[in-house]
Amino acid sequence: MTEHFADVYPGLTPRFVIGESGSRPLSLQEEIAAGTYAPVVTGGLIDQLEQAGLRGRGGSGFPAHRKWRAVRDGGAPRVVVANGEEGEPSSFKDRWLLTNRPHAVIDGLLLAAAVVGADRAVIYLSHPETVSSVQRALEELPPRPGSVAVEIHVVEHRYVAGEETAVCRSINGGLALPLSKPPRPFESGVDGRPTLVSNVETLVQAAWIGRNGADTYRELGTSASPGTMLVTLGGSCRRPGVYEVPYGLTLGHLIEDCAGGLSNGIGGVLAGGWFMGVADASLLEATWCYDAMRAAGSGIGCGAVTVLGCDERIEDVVARLARWYVEESAQQCGVCVKGTAAIADTLELFSQGSAEPDALANLARWGTALQGRGACAFLDGAANLAGTFSRIITSDRATQPIAVN
Ligand SMILES: Cc1cc2nc3c(=O)[nH]c(=O)nc-3n(C[C@H](O)[C@H](O)[C@H](O)COP(=O)(O)O)c2cc1C
Repeated sequence: MTEHFADVYPGLTPRFVIGESGSRPLSLQEEIAAGTYAPVVTGGLIDQLEQAGLRGRGGSGFPAHRKWRAVRDGGAPRVVVANGEEGEPSSFKDRWLLTNRPHAVIDGLLLAAAVVGADRAVIYLSHPETVSSVQRALEELPPRPGSVAVEIHVVEHRYVAGEETAVCRSINGGLALPLSKPPRPFESGVDGRPTLVSNVETLVQAAWIGRNGADTYRELGTSASPGTMLVTLGGSCRRPGVYEVPYGLTLGHLIEDCAGGLSNGIGGVLAGGWFMGVADASLLEATWCYDAMRAAGSGIGCGAVTVLGCDERIEDVVARLARWYVEESAQQCGVCVKGTAAIADTLELFSQGSAEPDALANLARWGTALQGRGACAFLDGAANLAGTFSRIITSDRATQPIAVN
């Protein structure tokens, strides 16, 4: 997988993977020529975001207009942060955006600053290629009357560093580790001020809506999941990469039509990044939209999909992912330290073929009982892994006897 490669769903008129940006960075002159770097009229933009139904692309899918409005209506002065840390290991779309369309990200950030009334604008990132590309873009930035200066904040890469309270804490000079909520950043974030922490793709999408309007935005996608999204297709996909796709097609179609299908069959699917846990092959029949993916027991998350090859044992994959959760935990909350370790130890037993009969029930219980515990949603990801794995194994057993020990 290369973070410089992006393409478009066949036949789709792209909104983001425009010109030659699929393979190389666009210069400021190219952005200006494409009409994608002209200040947008800011009045009424939050209403447009609401009408467009824009949801955050950082993972939670939170309605953008609600957060923008809450920050704008908070006490002045405010702060905006473009979150480009992209801690999710299976996602590359933020890196692609920051590397190949840095001016679009800066444009979206300046737009957000103008709309919510911020006097501080920060791009938060960690991957070295994104740092140099954003630095270059800022150097060639012409003065924009009335705009705030854009700062870069570089953080050491780790999964929890992209969580919104960790983002603010790090910019405030602390560790890039989550804090307990409330307060949430929209109430008190950078410098203790109302702070809009927004994923870089969300900002670029918002600027597109500002230029083209909510009605045009809704011409693609479904009524409940409008527009297009940058997805990262990986694993055993023949042509892994970042693709701009409309919502509303099945996951199987996206993989077939964009990535040329699968090179090695299908042993399972990790959709929505690693965060949403594991699914079996039937997930490819689900429609790529928020409701259908949730109904199928998975989710859209940050838009990354990893297809496991048929030679990959699902027990080994989940055991490896669970160990990763143990290593990536901020180790701040007892429930997270103990919960991730218990899940990893139990999944390890499945990998070794030595799980006791009650292990499956434990995983199923942790899949729900550990949701929403801990300072941030990190533990939810490990709980999703436990819960989804137990469901897959249970449904397999309903059709064929499986020896657990
Ligand atoms: C453990 C954890 C890690 C996260 N990492 C990222 C990240 O790398 N990038 C990101 O945009 N959001 C990340 N998020 C989500 C952020 O907390 C926040 O919701 C997001 O940046 C808001 O942007 P959006 O509303 O545009 O989606 C993470 C959340 C959690 C719980």
